[in-house]
Amino acid sequence: MPGFQGKTALVTGAASGIGAACVEWLAARGIGRFILVDIDATGLESLAPDCERIACAGDVADPALWEHVAERCDGLDLAVLNAGIAASGGIIDLDFAQWRRVMATNLDGMVLSLRGAMRAMRQNGGSVVLTASASGIKAEPGTAAYGASKAGVIQLAKVAAKEGAPLGIRVNAVAPGGVDTPIWDDVPMFADMAARQGRDAAIASMGSMATPLGRFARREEIAAQIGFLLSDDAATITGSVLVTDGGYSL
Ligand code: NAI
Repeated sequence: MPGFQGKTALVTGAASGIGAACVEWLAARGIGRFILVDIDATGLESLAPDCERIACAGDVADPALWEHVAERCDGLDLAVLNAGIAASGGIIDLDFAQWRRVMATNLDGMVLSLRGAMRAMRQNGGSVVLTASASGIKAEPGTAAYGASKAGVIQLAKVAAKEGAPLGIRVNAVAPGGVDTPIWDDVPMFADMAARQGRDAAIASMGSMATPLGRFARREEIAAQIGFLLSDDAATITGSVLVTDGGYSL
C-alpha cells in the first residue's frame, strides 16, 4: 500500500485493542514518527519500539493534553482518532454521571483530537480516520449513551470532511460491530458470560448472536481497514463511514 514511508502519524487510544493494532500495522509500513496518546501511560511504553515515537499520556477530553500534543505535531500526515469507552444501560435507569463520562471521552475527546489533527494538517493536508461504531447507526436497547456518542462521531467526520477538503485533509470514519478487544471486559453482560464460559467462548457466542457473518472482527482486520482509508489508495474517499460489522447493522 503506497504512501506511508517516513510519514508522521498520531494515534489516540494507542495503548490497547484497535489503536495498538493500528500502530503495529503502520509501523510495519514504514511510518517515520508516531505521536501516541492514551490515558494508560504504561500501555504506551512498549509500542513501536523501532520507530521514532512520542508518547503523550493523558485524557483525550482534557484540552491541556492537546496543547501539549500540538507542540509535538509538526508535519502531521495521518491521524487515527480512536480512544473510546463502552457503556450500557437503559434510558429510564440512566446514570447521568456515566452519560457524562461517555460523552466526555467519546465525543468531547474526539472533537478535541480532531481539532488538534486538523490544525496540524492545515498547511500540508493529511488523512484522518475516526473510530465510530455500528452502535452509532443501529438502535439497540441499552446503548443510548454509547450509541449517541458514536452517532456524534459519524456526523463529526462528515462535517470535518467538508471543512477539510479545501485544505487537502480527508476525514473518514469506521463503524465496527463487535471486535475482540479488552473494551468488552468492562461490559457487565459480557463479563458474566466470560466468567461462565471463558473469554474466547464468550467472544464466539457474542459473534454468533446477531452478526450475519457469525463472528466478531479481529483488531488486526479493523487496523488494515483503517490503514486503507488513511492511504493514498483511498485518495478520493472522504466523509465516508466504512461499516465493518459482519452485517450486524443490516
Ligand atoms: P480498548 O479498551 O482495547 O482500547 C481503548 C483505548 O482507549 C485504551 O487504551 C484506553 O486506555 C484508551 N482510552 C480510554 N479512554 C481514554 C481517554 N479518556 N483518554 C485517552 N485514552 C483513553 O478498546 P477498543 O475496542 O480497541 O476501542 C477502540 C475504539 O473502537 C473505541 O472508540 C471503541 O468505542 C471503538 N469500537 C470498539 C468496538 C469493539 O467491539 N471492540 C466496536 C466498535 C467501536
